[in-house]
Amino acid sequence: MSSSRSVSLLLTGKPTIEGAGVRLQRVFGFPEAPRLDPFLLLDDFGSSRAEDYVAGFPWHPHRGIETVTYLVSGRVEHRDSLGNQGTIGAGDVQWMTAGGGIIHQEMPQPTGEPLRGFQLWVNMPAAIKMSAPRYRDIAAAAIPGVSPRDGVHIKVIAGEVAGARGPVTDGAAQPEYADVSLAPGAEIEHPTQDERTVFAYVVSGSGRVGTGVEQELRSGQLALFGAGPSVRAVAGDSGFRFLLVSGRPLGEPVAWRGPIVMNTGEELATAFREYEQGTFLRHARG
Ligand code: CO
Repeated sequence: MSSSRSVSLLLTGKPTIEGAGVRLQRVFGFPEAPRLDPFLLLDDFGSSRAEDYVAGFPWHPHRGIETVTYLVSGRVEHRDSLGNQGTIGAGDVQWMTAGGGIIHQEMPQPTGEPLRGFQLWVNMPAAIKMSAPRYRDIAAAAIPGVSPRDGVHIKVIAGEVAGARGPVTDGAAQPEYADVSLAPGAEIEHPTQDERTVFAYVVSGSGRVGTGVEQELRSGQLALFGAGPSVRAVAGDSGFRFLLVSGRPLGEPVAWRGPIVMNTGEELATAFREYEQGTFLRHARG
């Protein structure tokens, strides 16, 4: 269908050091975020060398956003100010809603296998930025997989894709988050509501996306789509695995410093002052 979405922006991850010294690829962040509303940031982290990640992301605050960590392989331990403590492994997801404030740490652990995962930041609208924080640990087994046709397999983490509903169905931005695997030559066309921001980020393999002028995409590249009723993807010779993510833009002003994203500079200053003074956490430990 010629009306399906074409690619409006192509991004490739840039090597970045985050946390206490974790080497990762930042696919998008502060400079690109205005075009990706409601999404703020996407990191692709992982390495076969433990020294690239063991320093981890020690205790730090978040306010005003959701952070979504999806692990393809390896292990990450976490703890937070709500008293949650646990470990996620291959195929598991942490969906953390910072709301009015949470302090947590995320520490990748060496295993026999390489580490690979993604962290996506989803902005929260003004009306619920200061709501109670929430943490969800979603096991791989709770993430439905669907094969709408031969050569197509889709795991649905959030929203509804190909008739399968993911475990996360709330959120003001109504995010849709799927892990799509196409066998060589396989193709999908996924319907998308007009106003939604939609992107595909390649986990492995390569393929073509978009219509009209098709865009070649390979591992580590992201395609942001323009408006239209659907997105289309066709796998290359080695198969094509990508994250397909969409959300409703918030259209609100963004005041962003480090791990805190608010609407105004004053709210940002308040957040950092409260963190320094030890009054950052508004909600009782649950
Ligand atoms: Co964090």
